[in-house]
Amino acid sequence: MKTIIGNWKMNVGVRESVALARGVLYALRGKSVVPEVVICPSFIALSEVRKITAKSRIALGSQNSGFLETGALTGEISVRQLEELGVSHVILGHSERRQLLGETNEMIQKKLALAVKHQLIPILCVGETREEREQGKAKEVVIAQVKAMFAEKISFKKFPLFFAYEPIWAIGTGKAATPADAVEMHQVIRQTIKELVPSFSEKQVSILYGGSIDSKNAYAFLREQEVDGVLVGGASVKLSQMREIIDAASDALESTLSLT
Ligand code: 13P
Repeated sequence: MKTIIGNWKMNVGVRESVALARGVLYALRGKSVVPEVVICPSFIALSEVRKITAKSRIALGSQNSGFLETGALTGEISVRQLEELGVSHVILGHSERRQLLGETNEMIQKKLALAVKHQLIPILCVGETREEREQGKAKEVVIAQVKAMFAEKISFKKFPLFFAYEPIWAIGTGKAATPADAVEMHQVIRQTIKELVPSFSEKQVSILYGGSIDSKNAYAFLREQEVDGVLVGGASVKLSQMREIIDAASDALESTLSLT
């Protein structure tokens, strides 16, 4: 399967989110081979967008969740509240939160445990800075981030888990990594997870690439077997781009089907 996740960040309000969600739904109509699509509006739009995605092929995701199950954490949203809103996925540890809001591996690990407890599918973001890549430390940094997610034991059983490899230097810069770079890092992430949690089945863990994905480069990533999908920021709030990215995923899926 291929998964397309749209992270709308703070870019659109409620009305625009509703219109975008309708457009994405329309883009999937009539297609026989479709990717899994998850849209992640901001908190304020979740309940309105849910009215459109309910009983559709689109899943609803949150951009974050708090590290406490409930209680005093001003400005955050809890997994319980997200459950009530009908959210099925949650982005955790996005680099913007790590870098600009001081989110630590420990906090993200707590959020991961709560998400799994409440049956929210985690989308865990990892990725290195430009400096770290230039110093040859990219793999080391990403491996450490992945390892930190499994520092405390969590019972995943058969629950799915997404990792998104998002090199920080590629986010919002228009300079995506190359598909070859992504494949190389995805292999490293997959191998690290295999060693840490041998009980995971192959299909349980999906690894996505994120960072300046648009309608022009999406297919080059999606056709790679190692790339289970893409996490899209800027282009995901432009309906025409999102439509073409979904088409690229359908094409990639169709070409895999024709090979089998
Ligand atoms: P851009 O697609 O805008 O580079 O953002 C990627 C991202 O941060 C998705 O989570």
